[in-house]
Amino acid sequence: MKIRAAVLEEFGKPLVVREVDLAEPKAGEVLVRLVACGVCHTDMYTASGVDPSGYAPTVLGHEGAGVVEAIGEGVSSVAVGDHVVTLFSPQCRECIHCLDPRTNICLAIREQQGEGYLPDGTTRLSLDGEPLRHFMGTSTFAEYTVMPEIALANISKEAPLDHACLFACGLSTGIGAAIYTAKVEPGTTCVVFGAGMVGLGAVAGARIQGAERIICVDLSDERLELARGQGATDTWTAGPDTVERILEETGGFGADYTFEATGLVSVMQQAAESARMGWGLCTVAGVAGKGETLDVIPRWLITGRRVCGSSFGGVKGRDQVPALIDRYLEGEIDLDPFISHSLSLDEVNRGFELMEAQDGIRSVIAFS
Ligand SMILES: NC(=O)c1ccc[n+]([C@@H]2O[C@H](COP(=O)([O-])OP(=O)(O)OC[C@H]3O[C@@H](n4cnc5c(N)ncnc54)[C@H](O)[C@@H]3O)[C@@H](O)[C@H]2O)c1
Ligand SMILES: [Zn+2]
Ligand SMILES: [Zn+2]
Repeated sequence: MKIRAAVLEEFGKPLVVREVDLAEPKAGEVLVRLVACGVCHTDMYTASGVDPSGYAPTVLGHEGAGVVEAIGEGVSSVAVGDHVVTLFSPQCRECIHCLDPRTNICLAIREQQGEGYLPDGTTRLSLDGEPLRHFMGTSTFAEYTVMPEIALANISKEAPLDHACLFACGLSTGIGAAIYTAKVEPGTTCVVFGAGMVGLGAVAGARIQGAERIICVDLSDERLELARGQGATDTWTAGPDTVERILEETGGFGADYTFEATGLVSVMQQAAESARMGWGLCTVAGVAGKGETLDVIPRWLITGRRVCGSSFGGVKGRDQVPALIDRYLEGEIDLDPFISHSLSLDEVNRGFELMEAQDGIRSVIAFS
């Protein structure tokens, strides 16, 4: 079929919305009609050409939500008409990692997905007869996409899809970091560095887990205000003295849990150093630049601080995204403040501009 999609033709150039061909879903695959898709930093990062693992041409987009239009042979976990959230982090439910509660990093299709192919090593997208690679296994800046069944979360039909799409990336990453990676305990003190989509999600996750004190640190007053809305008890303007301040406010010990959601190694270091002696856990969610390293004084670890990373918030997507969306439907998470702009597919580059200007948290593309 012919569909309209935002194609990254050349790194560093605006995306081009054009007609491309999309083939029918094969065995284990699903045709999804996109209803909404968030615009995320990872899309912009890839478009810029700075990401060493990026490739072009490709159809970008990975924060999608939509409706199942057709299923390939053997597909059993979704049916035509179901509402789905796309998962760049799939869950096959069979690999050694999927069977282990300690990780959400599914091994089933990593290689093919990383190179822009569907699990059988081919593409369903093409442009003027030439294969066009899929991005993050999702390619959701498009009216329709074909994805592996294992990369779709089957969600409640009650959830508005322009809100549900936030769970496809940043929001789940933040909430999950608090709930599934750090497993924040009630009555504790948490510090969240960064109040973008990921950091605000971590604030919400810490609140849901029953943290007593949630300190959010950012440079933007506007974003710190949003953090208050998600449950931050203290909001601080970031500075070089943040670690000292955290130690002062915690009897010299540090916070039970710290979360880094900026992508800056200097902030990761602050997050590691402000985790509590004895049992403090620093969870790194930000993605640092290629080649950057994190400096941690080993003696800090000896005395009981721990540092861990979190991909997609440790969320096992097919099981836990629907569960998180149910919690949103029950009123536990207010998503409205996150959606700052609604755009058409043709305005996708405007979404990048807004993100660069830090105008709002998320622009969401609405497909008509
Ligand atoms: N681990 C994952 O699976 C995953 C998924 C999505 C995004 N990410 C990464 O998470 C990070 C955050 O994503 P986002 O969408 O929230 O980004 P964002 O740019 O919207 O938010 C980052 C925030 O950090 C703040 N900041 C900048 N310098 C700071 C400092 N010195 N101290 C405190 N705050 C500071 C900014 O003001 C901004 O509000 C990025 O690195 C992104 O690539 C990771
Ligand atoms: Zn994303
Ligand atoms: Zn798996």
